[in-house]
Formats: sequence, structure tokens, C-alpha cells
Amino acid sequence: MQMLFGSSVGKKIAMAATGLILVLFVIVHLIGNTSIFAGPDGINAYAAALHSMGPIVWLFRLVMLAVFLLHIWLGLKLTLENKLARPVGYAQKQNIRTSYAAQIMIYSGLVLLLFTIYHLLHFTVRVTNPEISHFVDAAGRLDVYAMVVLSFQKFFITLTYVIAMVFLLLHLSHGIGSMFQSSGLNNARTLPTIQAAGKWIAIVLLVGYIAIPISIFVGIVKL
Ligand code: HEM
Repeated sequence: MQMLFGSSVGKKIAMAATGLILVLFVIVHLIGNTSIFAGPDGINAYAAALHSMGPIVWLFRLVMLAVFLLHIWLGLKLTLENKLARPVGYAQKQNIRTSYAAQIMIYSGLVLLLFTIYHLLHFTVRVTNPEISHFVDAAGRLDVYAMVVLSFQKFFITLTYVIAMVFLLLHLSHGIGSMFQSSGLNNARTLPTIQAAGKWIAIVLLVGYIAIPISIFVGIVKL
């Protein structure tokens, strides 16, 4: 452990590896969530298929939780180390080639942590809105469609998700590009392309994710 995460380079590589796993999860999760546009049979069948995997689902959840916690711990540690390396701020700070998204990585990350806790309580543990979260459809499956649609018909839930997805955009628009930088997989020639690709992936994810609450809120997707 100490050997792996003791050096700053080791931490950055682990940060990139855990970040990559989380980005892949976010991509696959969005693809799965788009089954809401296929109606109740789409998303309810998808959720039932996932739930029926029993122990595999739990193993996956535990691995993802470990990856998520490691990513957060490394992020906090690296931020602290950077601060300690420069305890007195620059008299006049000039961020050369540093974007706003890059400067607020730790804050966008912490907002995503809060969002994830809320999101799990909302749709997985189903305790924030129990009155709409335990219906069963005609086929006897958990009615995830009704739960999601009735949730996003509420203004503040939709607003919370849309704001959280903007933070996801900010976090990933810098994070995807810096993954390659940390692991040394880029060079001066490929850097601009990788950074641009990272931004575009983040934008596609934002549009894909907010399409769900917004199309429900405006009534395109309904019960
Ligand atoms: C509009 C945006 C989103 C919607 C509509 C959505 C929808 C859902 C739904 C319906 C579930 C429950 C699935 C089930 O029990 O079968 C779920 C679980 C989950 N979501 Fe999301 N999600 C969104 C965004 C996100 C984002 C951005 C993340 C990551 C930061 C995320 C992470 C998770 C996790 C970790 C679970 C638990 C998976 C499990 O049960 O093992 N979601 N989501």
C-alpha cells in the first residue's frame, strides 16, 4: 500500500486508474438509463435483469465502492499535498493554461460525492420518496419507471439532478484529459486532442443525463 501510494506519481496513476473505472461506469449507467425512453417495459426489465444477478451485483457494488472511496481519498491527499508544498499563496496568482474546471476539481468532486449519497438514498435504498418508490408493475417487477417519472415531475428533484450533472460536466471535462497526463500517456502533440476529447465526452454525458429529468419534467416522458 505504502509502496504503491507513497509517491505522488503512484497516487496520480491510481487516481487516473480509479477515475477511468468511474468514467466507464458513468457511460454504461447512462446507456442503461436511456432504456427509460423505451417505456416501463424498457427500464423495468433492465432493472429486473440487474437485480436478478444476486451476488454478482453485490460483488460489483463492493468493488465500485472501494474504487470510489480510493479515488476520493487520493484526491483529498493530493490536494492537501499540493497545498502543503506551497503553504503561502502566490502574491499574484496567475493560472497559466489552467481552466476553471481544473481549479475546482476538489469542489466538483465533493459535490458529486454528496450527489451520489443522495442518489443512492433516492433510487437504490429508496428512502427519500418512499411514497413513489415501491410500486410493482403488471409483470411483478419493481416499477423503476414510475419511481423515476414521478420523481422528475417534482421541480426540486429535477433541479438537483440538473445542477449535479453540471458538476459532473465540470469534473469530467478536466478529469478525463488529466487521466492521460497523470499516467504519462500523452505528449505535447497529443495533449490538445486528448483535452478536447475529454471535454466532448463530458458534454455528451451532460446532455444524455439531463435529457432524462428534463424530458420527464416537460412531459415528453410520462406515466
Ligand atoms: C439523470 C441522471 C440519473 C438517473 C436518471 C439515474 C437513475 C438511476 C436509477 C433508476 C438507479 C436504480 C437502479 C435500480 O435499482 O435498478 C440508479 C442507481 C445508481 N446510480 Fe444513477 N442515475 C443518474 C445519474 C447517475 C450518476 C451521474 C451517477 C454517478 C455519479 C450514478 C450512479 C448510480 C449508482 C452508483 C447507482 C447504484 C447502482 C446499484 O444499485 O448497484 N447515477 N441510478
